Amino acid sequence: MENYSFPASFAWGAATAAYQVEGGWDADGKGPSVWDTFTHQGGDRVFKNQTGDVACGSYTLWEEDLKCIKQLGLTHYRFSLSWSRLLPDGTTGFINQKGIEYYNKVINSLLENNIIPMVTLYHFDMPQAVKDLGGWSSEKTVDIFEQYARFCYETFGDRVKLWITINEPYVMARFAYEDGSFAPGKKQPGYGAYQAGHNMLLAHAKAWHNYNTHFKKQQNGAVSIVLCSDWAEPFDPSSAVDKEATERYLAFYLDWFAKPVFIDGDYPASMKLKISENSKKEGLKTSRLPEFTEEEKALIKGTADFFCLNYYTSRKIKHSTVASEEPSFISDRSVEDIKDPDWPQCAPDWLAVVPWGLRKLLKYIKETFNNPAIYITENGFGQDDPPKLEDIQRWKYFEETLKEISKAINTDGVNVKGYLVWSLIDNFEWIHGYNVRFGLFHVDYDQATLPRTPYLSALKYSNVVKKNGLGGHADT
Ligand code: BGC
Repeated sequence: MENYSFPASFAWGAATAAYQVEGGWDADGKGPSVWDTFTHQGGDRVFKNQTGDVACGSYTLWEEDLKCIKQLGLTHYRFSLSWSRLLPDGTTGFINQKGIEYYNKVINSLLENNIIPMVTLYHFDMPQAVKDLGGWSSEKTVDIFEQYARFCYETFGDRVKLWITINEPYVMARFAYEDGSFAPGKKQPGYGAYQAGHNMLLAHAKAWHNYNTHFKKQQNGAVSIVLCSDWAEPFDPSSAVDKEATERYLAFYLDWFAKPVFIDGDYPASMKLKISENSKKEGLKTSRLPEFTEEEKALIKGTADFFCLNYYTSRKIKHSTVASEEPSFISDRSVEDIKDPDWPQCAPDWLAVVPWGLRKLLKYIKETFNNPAIYITENGFGQDDPPKLEDIQRWKYFEETLKEISKAINTDGVNVKGYLVWSLIDNFEWIHGYNVRFGLFHVDYDQATLPRTPYLSALKYSNVVKKNGLGGHADT
């Protein structure tokens, strides 16, 4: 059997996010987040109108999560801070001491067990009070976010050395501000995503500079942003328009955020061109995609100390001119994205299993963004409910994916520093509620104690972590 090796100091981890696991939605002075409001409003936007009120109960059951982390032997654990648990109205006007105590407990117990915390400041759950001031549609949020980031560096930065400002601005922009399927449910096609993306880029940049100027020297940590992307290939490799459409798909996905942060502070040319052409056709004087000033470009450029990638799936791309009554992100992008019917499928309809797509995407990142150090901060496979504890198909996905990463490192020379599974435990999968299970550990929601039980994948993954790689051993 071939040996799939990994560098000696490779980071092995798993990830979660506050709203998806913590519960305790109004415990001990926590303020509401947009997901609390959104789920409490019902309206069938989430599977069976489920909520994260209790979720996996990690707010009170943290020790149970820690046991899972230790059982896997992880070197890194990625989790997010609930902004409104720390700052109930989103600002430092009022600080919730109980929130600080909770995260101190999490961080300190990880460190006592030699597990490195990787902390996301914001993973989709904006305080409702900040949304009420305009959320990501408003420039005001840029400074409010910077203030929150600074508060977190001050409070936890003596111990946290790996910071992530924002998780997946792409998903927030498209689903929370463009089509409104995610909280806060804002529907503003053709404008919402671009405005939100613009403000998130500025907020991230300011939060990075704040650390760099005030904390870096003393705390010696690193700050980045998590970007997600599919890999994409032309549907017809001999078609020039499909090839161009494939580049556009990546421009409107990964490069939308990666180019400003890693290259030059500005959006991809093809994105700017498409949106301004369409805006002109609509009779508008300016493009629906906001422009950065020269100072803003300088502010954004170079604001990541490492590259964080969430990878789940791939698409085949055909050129298309989507006829649309009104402007939208989809019609600006003008592609048809296709799941190859030969690709296996897992529970969420968007997730076709394409492990080799990750290797290609890693190579693309190396070549396009100046060979950065990369952490794969999420990768996972969702099972239907009820799930299989003997999740053989899922382990195959992880195994194939890890082989592709090993090849990316050893053959393509990509500087991959770590890999984190989404997710440590089954949790609230946003609009799919508890109906899709991504955990390495099963959570039994029918029992009050919410017991965690390892899936087969957890046992297999712990072997990989122990051996720092796959192969050469019968039981991986
Ligand atoms: C998000 C997670 C989510 C996962 C699976 C990522 O987009 O960061 O919060 O649960 O994908 O859908």
